[in-house]
Amino acid sequence: MAQLPEAWRRATVPDLPPLQPTGTDVLDTFARTIYGRTPTGGHLTDLELLSEEPGVLRHRARISCPLGDLEFDTLLHRPSAAGPSPVIVALSFTGIDETVDSWPYEKVMDAGYAVLAVDYQQIEPDDPSALGVRALFPNGEPWGAVGAWAWGLSRCLDIAAGIQGLTTDGAIVLGHSRLGKAALWAGAQDERFAVTVSNDSGCCGASLFRHPGGEDIAAITTKFPHWFVPSFASYAGSEDELPVDQHQLLASIAPRRVYVASAEDDDWADPIGEYLAVLAATPAFEDGGIGYHVRPGGHALLEEDWLQAVEFSRRTSRGWPSPGRRSG
Ligand code: GCU
Repeated sequence: MAQLPEAWRRATVPDLPPLQPTGTDVLDTFARTIYGRTPTGGHLTDLELLSEEPGVLRHRARISCPLGDLEFDTLLHRPSAAGPSPVIVALSFTGIDETVDSWPYEKVMDAGYAVLAVDYQQIEPDDPSALGVRALFPNGEPWGAVGAWAWGLSRCLDIAAGIQGLTTDGAIVLGHSRLGKAALWAGAQDERFAVTVSNDSGCCGASLFRHPGGEDIAAITTKFPHWFVPSFASYAGSEDELPVDQHQLLASIAPRRVYVASAEDDDWADPIGEYLAVLAATPAFEDGGIGYHVRPGGHALLEEDWLQAVEFSRRTSRGWPSPGRRSG
């Protein structure tokens, strides 16, 4: 880990619930309390190739759900390596075309990884009065939009499994901010993800509820009630009463890998709270199985965030096929 800022070095982990509580299923508690239970079902039935240029493929996927089909578009950047490439699945905020300018595809492919991108609002609109995939499942236990986006990330991996030149071994799920919350929930639930990367995911992502600073439960449930189960709002102002905290979510992913990235000036995401969650989760991982960086600057998914996460994945993914460098 590079030298941490002074405030990071001085910070101390607050009193927290036990890292791996005995006798309770911690993911079940996260589902019940925060994100909602992801229903089973939703199968890829059709993957139509829309266009293909060298290394860049666009598809339309159709997922059959109990009450109807969900369709969304995917953008795949695939390196021309000799063997199959491991894949990074990531949801984008502003549509898949915009990622062409803002995500460092060439450098990530040079490191041997393919990237499959989907516009998050094609899975579930980010709107308290609209439903996407959540309308395609019978009314069971509630699940929030973060859970729906996490569900979508797993479907992205289903899609990757069917595309030539890709392997889902060593797969990475990566997300920024609200989509970093979704990436963590996806990585916790879907063991096919070898590495889970959270970038500036903040409250209900990598940062600790019990570390004061930045967004809290009152703020997040007031502004984004649709992200979580309705009963989560009852913990507003009572962070200490929550049966879980986010170091447990990170730890639930072990022995698979976790990488948390923070930005020094991103106060709303409480980057020190993210760091302390990593520290508190570390005993659950084998040496080096959880990584962290904090870089100067504010709330954004930058090239250096991508490249450090990719480098961590390459370094720690022993046992999974090692990504080949790009040929030609
Ligand atoms: C808001 C929200 C955060 C979220 C962020 C984002 O700031 O309060 O919880 O992470 O949006 O997704 O950019």
